[in-house]
Amino acid sequence: METLRDIVVLIHLVGFAVLFGAWVVELVNGKRGITRVMHWGLAIAAVAGLALAAPWGLDGDLNYAKIGTKLVILLVIGALLGIGAARQRKSGSVSPAIFWPIGLLTLTNAAIAVIW
Ligand code: HEM
Repeated sequence: METLRDIVVLIHLVGFAVLFGAWVVELVNGKRGITRVMHWGLAIAAVAGLALAAPWGLDGDLNYAKIGTKLVILLVIGALLGIGAARQRKSGSVSPAIFWPIGLLTLTNAAIAVIW
């Protein structure tokens, strides 16, 4: 059970890496747009995160305030990705007010996970 949970943590980290990595690529290549890979990363992190939030019957209490905060931030990132993708389809670009928070909130969620 413990190993299985560790594997789900690993999948959760892969989701984070895919989302944040895709965002950094867009930052560095100067396009600063929304990509399909970002949606994939968010979906992977969300599914694995929700699985980790379930009681596994292992030692150690879950911090539900922390998990709830991460869930709210994840929903905001999802909304920004959705709105950004729709605007990008219409106008061909995304405003910095949508692009920047996606990466910064992703980093915030990782910081909350590690530091809180
Ligand atoms: C973009 C969104 C997210 C990012 C970037 C993220 C990032 C991370 C990272 C980096 C860790 C590893 C921390 C460590 O092992 O010390 C972690 C762990 C965890 N995350 Fe997330 N997370 C996200 C969303 C969520 C959501 C939505 C939930 C639940 C609803 C969640 C639940 C958890 C839990 C329970 C752990 C602890 C796993 C353990 O016991 O070691 N995460 N997250």
